[in-house]
Amino acid sequence: AAPAMRSATGNPTQAEPSSRAQRSTHLTTAQGARLATTDHSLRAGERGPVLLQDHHLREKITHFDHERIPERVVHARGAAAHGVFRANGAATSICRAAVFQDGKETDVFVRFSTVLGSRGSADAVRDTRGFAVKFYTDEGTWDLVGNNIPVFFIQDAIKFPDIVHAGKPHPDREIPQAQSAHDTFWDFVTLHTEATAHTMWNMSDRGIPRSYRMMEGFGVHTFRMSNHDGETTLVKFHWKPRLGVHSMVWEEAQITNGMDPDFHRRDLADAIESGAYPQWDLGVQVFPDTEDQMFEGIDLLDPTKIVPEELAPVQIIGTMTLNANPTNYFAETEQVAFHPGHLAPGIDVTADPLLQGRLFSYLDTQISRLGGPNFAQLPINRPHAPVNDMLRDGMHQTAVHTGVAPYKPNSLDGGCPFFAGAQDGALIDVPVEIQGKATRQKPASFEDHFSQARLFYRSLAPVEQEHTANAYAFELAKCYEPVIRQRGVNVLSNVDQELAESVAAKLGLPAPEPQQLEPVATSPALSQVGREWPLDG
Ligand code: HEM
Repeated sequence: AAPAMRSATGNPTQAEPSSRAQRSTHLTTAQGARLATTDHSLRAGERGPVLLQDHHLREKITHFDHERIPERVVHARGAAAHGVFRANGAATSICRAAVFQDGKETDVFVRFSTVLGSRGSADAVRDTRGFAVKFYTDEGTWDLVGNNIPVFFIQDAIKFPDIVHAGKPHPDREIPQAQSAHDTFWDFVTLHTEATAHTMWNMSDRGIPRSYRMMEGFGVHTFRMSNHDGETTLVKFHWKPRLGVHSMVWEEAQITNGMDPDFHRRDLADAIESGAYPQWDLGVQVFPDTEDQMFEGIDLLDPTKIVPEELAPVQIIGTMTLNANPTNYFAETEQVAFHPGHLAPGIDVTADPLLQGRLFSYLDTQISRLGGPNFAQLPINRPHAPVNDMLRDGMHQTAVHTGVAPYKPNSLDGGCPFFAGAQDGALIDVPVEIQGKATRQKPASFEDHFSQARLFYRSLAPVEQEHTANAYAFELAKCYEPVIRQRGVNVLSNVDQELAESVAAKLGLPAPEPQQLEPVATSPALSQVGREWPLDG
């Protein structure tokens, strides 16, 4: 009998026949016919030609020819691990999701990634990192698909193809592979100035993490939670690494990429294999669900803005421990499919226009990346909650559905003809009022592009500010177009004049005119601790 092995979803299962084959004394075709050899093709005489009738030859090569699937359109390079999330009960006053009940343990699968590089690019590049967590909850899978940077480049998903086209390698030479140091990236982010805060985070030491184990994670958008009484609250999610936040310095990252381009994935796998399980606390910033969805002057629906922790402290609601490496990279890390619309009852989306567009994009791209609409049946994507849907057929269908009536109401398959509907259903379980005329206009609060970049820059220690100025100078120096280099410096004068002048000097460019700087978007002084919205009340 085959030994029990860990399946992609963490449940012990029998080994698949294909993994037995590697250890067995004999091989078979995919149909189970025993083979005499796998080393020599069938020929007409010793000197050939090779005969088309050699089924094993054709099957072996044909399957090999189709081994690759398209890499993700973004976040192509990643590393993942299994683990468990344990709730401390602190969120139960605002959220009825079972995953947050005190002491509740839920299996998770986490994929960390770079954004721009291809599958074979290096790890220690200057980029944003993906931090995607799949919670296999008893009430259905919940995906928290976040990044290690709490703000985003754009405020509206309609701009996503633009930022990605600009950030990916130049279409003519397909360079650079994995760095943002090129004309198209800087052309876009200096013209489209709502990207300024995210770019500033990228240029800071946060853009080159020391390890996946030492990164924060952020849900970025504001989400809506509801409790058992139907009361709603707005939240922002934060992952806080128990090992603290650490970065490489630029020179270290350059050497690392040369000596070990797999540095981050090796570090994660080695740590888990040696029993040094990485841990993160999950926290929420909690805001009242007011009509204007603002908090202390900050628009909670604008994904280019954070709410400083001095104004809304992060309250810890549980801890995640990563304790097992994937068994097979392709089956798990490559085929996992996250989606911000995978939500559990009690956790909902808001009208953030970036989030709304993401809700469309992930399933759409996965249908092409994973070859049709049935990838939820892959072991890594299978919910741990019972599934009873009426989705049928399609490419790569592996389920053998029974009955004749995959529709409701039906009176043919027994059971209740009408769909009863769960009282505690997921997906907008508390009615939300929607009103307004159709318009492509955005709110005035979305026009503030610089105050949070300034807030971030001024929060850095002098040595971090120096690293950030050096990063701007290095990256802009790589741009061929002088006009883009100068524009890069000019934009910075909206953030901090000293920074702009320092980068200009490093590039040998004239210092830009000082700008009239608007006040930071938060109304109270940041040193003053703001109004708390405690979880127990
Ligand atoms: C993939 C995060 C915005 C489209 C990913 C992944 C992460 C992520 C972590 C990798 C998932 C994995 O490991 O498999 C984010 C965050 C965003 C954001 C935090 C903004 C706050 C967007 C937007 C779009 C988008 C606006 C499109 C309108 C995609 C696509 C993939 C992806 C197409 C590839 C998915 C796949 O092939 O499985 N994103 N993303 N993302 N994201 Fe986003």
